[in-house]
This record gives sequence, C-alpha cells and structure tokens, in this order.
Amino acid sequence: MTIHRYITIALYYSILYDCHMSIITVANTKGGAGKSTSAIFLATAAARAGRQVRVLDADPQGTASEWVWAAEEDGTVLPFTVEPVNAASLRHLHSDDVITIVDTPPGESSLVQAAIDSSDFVIIPTKATSADLWRTAATVAAAAHRLSGVLITQARTGTTLLNEVKTQLHKDDVSYFDTVIPLREAIASAVGTIPTELWGYDIVLDEIMKEI
Ligand SMILES: Nc1ncnc2c1ncn2[C@@H]1O[C@H](COP(=O)(O)OP(=O)(O)OP(=O)(O)O)[C@@H](O)[C@H]1O
Ligand SMILES: [Mg+2]
Repeated sequence: MTIHRYITIALYYSILYDCHMSIITVANTKGGAGKSTSAIFLATAAARAGRQVRVLDADPQGTASEWVWAAEEDGTVLPFTVEPVNAASLRHLHSDDVITIVDTPPGESSLVQAAIDSSDFVIIPTKATSADLWRTAATVAAAAHRLSGVLITQARTGTTLLNEVKTQLHKDDVSYFDTVIPLREAIASAVGTIPTELWGYDIVLDEIMKEI
C-alpha cells in the first residue's frame, strides 16, 4: 500500500517534470525594441546548450520566419524550427519539454496578451533610452502576472545613459537583466545566418531557465 503510494507520488512528479513547460515570450509593444533578434539569438543559445527549441512567430511581419527563409536560400539549416502561430493556438500551447520561444508583433493586441498569458517567462527587450523605457512600461504592466525581465539591447556600453536607464529600472522596482546586449553591427547583420557569437544571450537564457 505504502509502496504503491510512493510509486503514485513518483509518477505524479515525473509527469509534472515531463510536462514542465518552457514557454518564453519576447514582447514589447514598442516597435524595433529587438524582439525578433532576441528570439532568434535565444533560440540559438538554447540549441547550442543541447536543448530542443522551437520559435513560434506570432508577428504578421514574419521577421523570424524570414530569417529561416533567408538562411535556406543560402543552404543554411537553423538548429531550430520557426513556425507561424495565431492567438487561438497560443491559448492552447502544448506542454512539452521543448523550449518554445514566441516572437510577438509591436503594438498592443489580444495576440500579444495571449502570448504573455501562456508563457512561463516574458522577456522584454528595450533600447537604453528614457523614451524607450517609458514606452516599455505598458508591456511590463501587461506581464505583471508572469515572471518577466527587461533586457536592455542595442546598448552603447559604458555610457552614462545606460547607467541612468538601469538606475531608473531599479527605482521603479522593475526586474531586469544585469546582462546587457551591446549595439553591434554583427548582430544587425546576422539575419539569415546561425549567429556565431551570442553577445550575452546565452547568459540571459541560463538565467531564465534557472527561474522557470
Ligand atoms: N544588439 C543589436 N545591435 C545592433 N542592431 C540590432 C541589435 N538588436 C537588434 N538590432 C537591429 O535593430 C532592428 C530592430 O530589431 P528587431 O527586428 O529585432 O526588433 P523588433 O522589436 O522585433 O521590431 P518589430 O517591433 O518591428 O518587430 C533590426 O534591424 C535589428 O537587426
Ligand atoms: Mg520583430
């Protein structure tokens, strides 16, 4: 009887473990914040760490999907798939062991909210200016019921502005990554390739995986 109970408990935990979802949504209603770039670099980091990973492209602009098509034209096969997804499917994402990274469109919409609601972690990229930070507040609020972190991208490292933005986030009690993604031509021109350098996205992914 006791053994049976232990087995049941063990099974229960193994099912819980197996069904553990790893859905990471990249969101910021502000356009050009670095969402699609972050989605692809995070997926690359996950694949490089030996994890099974897929990208779901919820953006009708299809930036993440275009990345794959550009790669295919060059005969490059990305170490993850990118599939389009709509609001209805986002609401019924399957629980599995695959890390799912959702790229979302700019602008406030029920689609973005559905992606946020279905995720284990919301990563909110932003440029390092006060104006961008101000425009990021809406997304931080929309993700308040989820684990989330603001990721400063396209940053000029070592500038006063960067320090001011970090200070502001701290003051506002917004959770953010200490790791900052620098502004690099190599990142902007990585479209259609498998990124070689990860520019800190690998550290960011590790931190997310520890939290979820
Ligand atoms: N760290 C970086 N260094 C240099 N350029 C970058 C960096 N991150 C992103 N970019 C460039 O900035 C532009 C916007 O990035 P991206 O497309 O990822 O933003 P987005 O938030 O997905 O935009 P949208 O809101 O239109 O979907 C792109 O041209 C991209 O290549
Ligand atoms: Mg995009």
